[in-house]
Amino acid sequence: MAIHKVGVVGAGLMGSGIAQTCAQSGYETLVREISQPLLEKGLARIYDAWDMMASKGKLSAEQVAENRARLHGTLDLEEFADCDLVIEAVIENMEEKLRLFPALDKILQPEALILSNTSSLNITQMGAVTRRPEKVCGLHFFNPAPVMKLVEVVRTISTSDQTIAEVQEFARSLGKTPVLAKDTAGFIVNFLLIPYLIAAIRMLENGVASRDDIDTAMKLGCGYPMGPFTLLDYVGLDTTLWAAEAIYEEFKDPLYAPPPLLRRMVLSGMTGRKSGRGFYEY
Ligand code: CAA
Repeated sequence: MAIHKVGVVGAGLMGSGIAQTCAQSGYETLVREISQPLLEKGLARIYDAWDMMASKGKLSAEQVAENRARLHGTLDLEEFADCDLVIEAVIENMEEKLRLFPALDKILQPEALILSNTSSLNITQMGAVTRRPEKVCGLHFFNPAPVMKLVEVVRTISTSDQTIAEVQEFARSLGKTPVLAKDTAGFIVNFLLIPYLIAAIRMLENGVASRDDIDTAMKLGCGYPMGPFTLLDYVGLDTTLWAAEAIYEEFKDPLYAPPPLLRRMVLSGMTGRKSGRGFYEY
């Protein structure tokens, strides 16, 4: 199946990064938000990234103009009717996704693929509320989506071999390396990453070491690009909490139980970089 036009639902941190990646990889890209201010914020983030790439000599002025011409914003889901592939990157809330998937299913051509960027919610359930569960799977990007090379292709019990092959090929066309995982909460990366982040928060709660020393230890001791608290702020404490809750819900393994401090910080609006305050201030 030839993919010409890609739809991205959501222009938040992940949605805008995914839309940027698709447009700069040559795809006609339509990104949808629920309000004009949110749409403008998402598009501005993408334009800024292209300007930054141009200032570093990674894109010519002509390429920036071509990318911009390929990227369109909308508030109207109906405009996705001629998209060959749609990536859902809305808030990590199952009710929201279960409203969106049947709506997309009605609007899209029968052969179009519907993918979810969810980091830990049940994709099988999202496929089950469409008439095309064999054309539904996960395509999970990592933050920052235009930079991180990995995508997880997530297979539900209903996804067809053909869909998996097409999505893997699409991922490679974006310059990404796909890995394949079954639809179980956390897939590969979050199943391993979330307990590490949670352990760092517990260590801080227990007074074992300071925030800065834990970050420095993991950066210099393990060669990680960011320490756990810098990464928590970068990914978003709310996103981390939702992922931890979803994995805990599925396996009931205490390793994934969100620590009290994480929940309280999210309840206080301290969600990390995006709110200006998390474990650090911005
Ligand atoms: N578009 C294009 N390029 C971008 C960009 C964007 N939106 N954002 C950053 N870049 C480029 C920069 O221009 C820079 O390019 P050069 O090296 O050519 O100058 C490069 O990316 C690196 O950026 P910076 O120089 O600003 O910063 P850095 O070298 O410190 O790297 C980082 C930043 C890539 C984020 C690095 O710190 C890193 O890899 N951190 C770990 C991130 C991580 O683990 N992400 C996964 C989180 S888990 C997740 O996302 C899954 C989930 O479900 C929760």
